[in-house]
Amino acid sequence: MRVIETVSDFRVAERKAPRPLGLVPTMGYLHEGHMSLAHRARADNATVSASIFVNPTQFGPNEDLSTYPRDMEGDLTKLEEAGVDLVFAPQLQEVYPPGFDTHVDVGEIATKLEGASRPDHFRGVATVVCKLLTIVRPDNVYFGQKDAQQTLVIKRLNADLNLGAEVVVMPTIRDSDGLALSSRNAYLDDGDRKAALTLSRSLDLARQLYDSENHDAEKIRAQMRNLIESEPRTSVDYISIADIETLDELDIIDRPALVSLAVRVGDVRLIDNTLLP
Ligand code: PAJ
Repeated sequence: MRVIETVSDFRVAERKAPRPLGLVPTMGYLHEGHMSLAHRARADNATVSASIFVNPTQFGPNEDLSTYPRDMEGDLTKLEEAGVDLVFAPQLQEVYPPGFDTHVDVGEIATKLEGASRPDHFRGVATVVCKLLTIVRPDNVYFGQKDAQQTLVIKRLNADLNLGAEVVVMPTIRDSDGLALSSRNAYLDDGDRKAALTLSRSLDLARQLYDSENHDAEKIRAQMRNLIESEPRTSVDYISIADIETLDELDIIDRPALVSLAVRVGDVRLIDNTLLP
């Protein structure tokens, strides 16, 4: 496994790399969710690359950029074990050199849900992923369903700018109690972690209601909210039941829907989602 810090060195390695080439973009502090992407990439490609870069432009001014968990050594061990060939781990200045002033704005789909709660978040994601795709030039690029809206934004970006990668989306990996794995779970104390289970439980509840022929989206949102708010450490940012393609909110679940939510548990903002049916 080679760890490469500069764009110019990566370009040389990319040109020599046997194809197909897969890319797993990450911000590091890797867990089994990330590794599931790496394993799938290993199965699909002759060369597997991963990137580790905590991208400042996707964090808001009052968000957790300065405290975002990092463990470069541990991450490299895990990637090596997963059979990754090339790791792109640039410093900040390599990605955003002085004078950097171009940004990628994905339209409508990026304005809802996470986009509404975190202005400029998807601008930062789209800009850095656009750069990664043009530097690495992968045939296949891997993302997690955990960040459902992010996958829609990236598919839009990839299609609209002809970036030419196949976007592969992998299922959300969870702990045995249902909590979706996230690098941000590292911030949770024992009490928070227990409270955080309300996210996946509310999604299970939505599915149960749907399966027992309750397709009234507003009633389901209300019951999810009740369940989450029964836990005093939580505060709901949003609960959404939306069309899976447009992310328009639904009144009645009469088509494939994304049930997604963002909840603050103590100081930690967590997201999760499921698909219906
Ligand atoms: P990060 O949060 O590190 O996540 C990297 C990838 O791992 C994303 O595609 C994310 O959806 C996936 N992932 C995270 N938790 C997962 C889980 N429990 N199960 C399955 N996949 C999971 O997402 C980002 O980084 C950044 O926005 C990035 C795309 C790298 C751009 O900076």
